[in-house]
Amino acid sequence: MSFASLLPAAVLFALSFRLAGAISAQTFAPPSKGPLVQTANYTSFSNNTLHNKHVVKGKVFDRIIQVWFENTDFATAISTPAFEQLTKQGLLLTNYNAVTHPSQPNYVSAIGGDFFGLQDDAMFHIPSNISTVVDLLEEKHISWATYQENMPENGYYGISYKAANYGNSSAKPYSYYVRKHNPLMVYDAVSQDPARLRNIRTFNDFANDVVNGTLPQWVFVTPNMVNDGHDTTIDYAASFLEYWLVPLLTDKRVNGDRTLILVTFDENETWEIQNNVFALALGGAVAKHLHGTTDDTLYTHYSSLSTVQANWCLGSLGRQDTNATVSNVFSFVAQKTGYKNVHVPANQAPQFNLSDVAPGPLNSDAYIPFAAPNLKARGAGGGPVFLRPGLNKTLTVEKLPPPVDLYSLKKAVPWQMSPRTTSGKNIIPCADSDCK
Ligand SMILES: *[C@@H]1O[C@H](CO)[C@@H](O)[C@H](O)[C@H]1NC(C)=O
Ligand SMILES: *[C@@H]1O[C@H](CO)[C@@H](O)[C@H](O)[C@H]1NC(C)=O
Ligand SMILES: *[C@@H]1O[C@H](CO)[C@@H](O)[C@H](O)[C@H]1NC(C)=O
Ligand SMILES: *[C@@H]1O[C@H](CO)[C@@H](O)[C@H](O)[C@H]1NC(C)=O
Ligand SMILES: *[C@@H]1O[C@H](CO)[C@@H](O)[C@H](O)[C@H]1NC(C)=O
Ligand SMILES: *[C@@H]1O[C@H](CO)[C@@H](O)[C@H](O)[C@H]1NC(C)=O
Ligand SMILES: *[C@@H]1O[C@H](CO)[C@@H](O)[C@H](O)[C@H]1NC(C)=O
Ligand SMILES: *[C@@H]1O[C@H](CO)[C@@H](O)[C@H](O)[C@H]1NC(C)=O
Ligand SMILES: *[C@@H]1O[C@H](CO)[C@@H](O)[C@H](O)[C@H]1NC(C)=O
Repeated sequence: MSFASLLPAAVLFALSFRLAGAISAQTFAPPSKGPLVQTANYTSFSNNTLHNKHVVKGKVFDRIIQVWFENTDFATAISTPAFEQLTKQGLLLTNYNAVTHPSQPNYVSAIGGDFFGLQDDAMFHIPSNISTVVDLLEEKHISWATYQENMPENGYYGISYKAANYGNSSAKPYSYYVRKHNPLMVYDAVSQDPARLRNIRTFNDFANDVVNGTLPQWVFVTPNMVNDGHDTTIDYAASFLEYWLVPLLTDKRVNGDRTLILVTFDENETWEIQNNVFALALGGAVAKHLHGTTDDTLYTHYSSLSTVQANWCLGSLGRQDTNATVSNVFSFVAQKTGYKNVHVPANQAPQFNLSDVAPGPLNSDAYIPFAAPNLKARGAGGGPVFLRPGLNKTLTVEKLPPPVDLYSLKKAVPWQMSPRTTSGKNIIPCADSDCK
């Protein structure tokens, strides 16, 4: 699919997706009879099967499933009964932090080890010489997939997708799916590779893959815009948690003895305070004696990368996934893999609530080109830094020119696929007339 073919959809603009609360009093509508039953509410049915019968053993877990909810402070999540209840079955990571605001850069970070200066939710693409966790996994033949609720088909490229409103049949179609929460699609290394695109899967594919015993080893799950709490409330998200995740916890095809499930949120709702989010390590791989306990080690979204690297002795991306301060490995995994976490005293913790300050190739106020990763870095997995084709190894961070304010030159960064308004605010193309 070419980028140009998608731009017409980007002609309909919205000021912002950040309309949280607009429909807050909604009651939860289950999209199906259960998480393993395919439904017409998801636009298209699964029509292909993965072939993941081979299991690569990890040191602590053989499967990791991340489920990301949206825009909620730690305190709000922990005081919501369904989330609070679940902590009894897992290890609560009380000092887990998002890395910036708003949503999209957080998702991008968890895949590529950096947010590259990104400070908004507009449509971008990251060139194919930039590596992601997928490169590290495939190098060791570890299967992977992302499941995106209400994405209409495998590897859908558009910025959002409006489907019939299954919660209210007399309401207009609804943008349940958004690309800003599907970070693998932002990376050309994934989105321009047909074999990898098959692993960008729908929720009907999830049912298919579980029932047919082909659920991969690395799994990233994004509920839709109502179920993740983004357009609704934490109580709505809690109902989804009970509908979708809770039954799967007792299903061996999903949660076996060596499955780690990370339930977390992309970012804290209150930007003026530290970006601490609820994060719960669940699943058979979390030892029983840890259930109902807490761990106050400093973690971030980069920790999900370093933990995976440590578990399967992978290489690294040579970016923030190898920055020891921000990439502690989940301690119960670090203990078994011999990785030494760093202790960061509370008063020395970096501020993760900053936005719009990091120069980078996706920041038009402070633009710098994409730099090579730190080739000398050694991450938690001990392996070398992964190099993708087309990477200029000598274009290191130190060699970059000073940041340029492209915005004041009335230019967009080369990787931006949607324009900005004259006021300087990014406009988010949105095929949804509701979102203005
Ligand atoms: C679609 O969702 C609605 C709302 O929960 C539900 O009533 C309906 O049964 C669902 N359709 C299918 C095919 O499951
Ligand atoms: C957001 O994170 C901060 C810092 O960890 C935490 O103190 C606060 O409780 C969170 N926000 C709310 C309102 O819960
Ligand atoms: C199944 O295949 C059809 C035809 O190629 C496509 O339109 C549809 O979106 C596919 N479904 C999924 C889940 O990809
Ligand atoms: C369903 O949508 C219609 C049309 O937007 C609206 O008037 C009605 O209040 C909605 N019903 C509920 C229960 O939200
Ligand atoms: C299992 O796979 C078969 C063949 O691909 C498919 O027809 C079936 O619908 C799948 N089961 C579920 C529950 O999706
Ligand atoms: C980030 O949070 C700290 C307190 O944790 C606060 O002092 C600071 O002003 C916040 N920064 C922004 C940009 O809101
Ligand atoms: C590592 O992370 C800290 C905290 O965000 C930051 O101050 C530091 O610059 C980072 N180091 C590198 C080499 O990126
Ligand atoms: C990566 O590729 C892009 C696009 O070709 C190029 O602009 C950039 O300089 C490259 N960066 C490195 C470090 O190779
Ligand atoms: C690679 O980067 C170096 C350092 O910036 C530069 O001098 C060189 O021309 C680049 N090579 C290519 C092929 O772009």
